[in-house]
Amino acid sequence: MLTGVDEIDRQHRVLVNTLNEIIVCLPDQDDDELAERITRDLLGYALYHFETEQGLMLRSGYLRECALDAASHLAQHRAFSERVESLRNGINRGLELDLEGLTRFLHDWLIGHIMNSDVRFGRFLRGETVELKA
Ligand SMILES: [Fe+2]
Repeated sequence: MLTGVDEIDRQHRVLVNTLNEIIVCLPDQDDDELAERITRDLLGYALYHFETEQGLMLRSGYLRECALDAASHLAQHRAFSERVESLRNGINRGLELDLEGLTRFLHDWLIGHIMNSDVRFGRFLRGETVELKA
């Protein structure tokens, strides 16, 4: 799951560790506490992490040189951010969340995104040729 880019890998470690802590504590936490940890700690940090990656995309020339890859990568960040926004709105309106389902979604999304889009971006940052998607 390593991209080979220190700053990105460090942030991924924080995200994965936070999610693992939430999963381990799942049975012992009440729903409000869990919803708070997910939205504040994990999702807040994910949005901060996206900003880091997007800054690197701009500075490294990835947006220009790998426009298709970058567009699909950014679309994934955007879709995730929109989901976070709607979750926050739901929590603020007092809607009940399927926290186990949400945790599963976060786990699958995070691992899938890191192993595919972020690893490809990392290869570009390390100067390797990135095979363009069709
Ligand atoms: Fe990413």
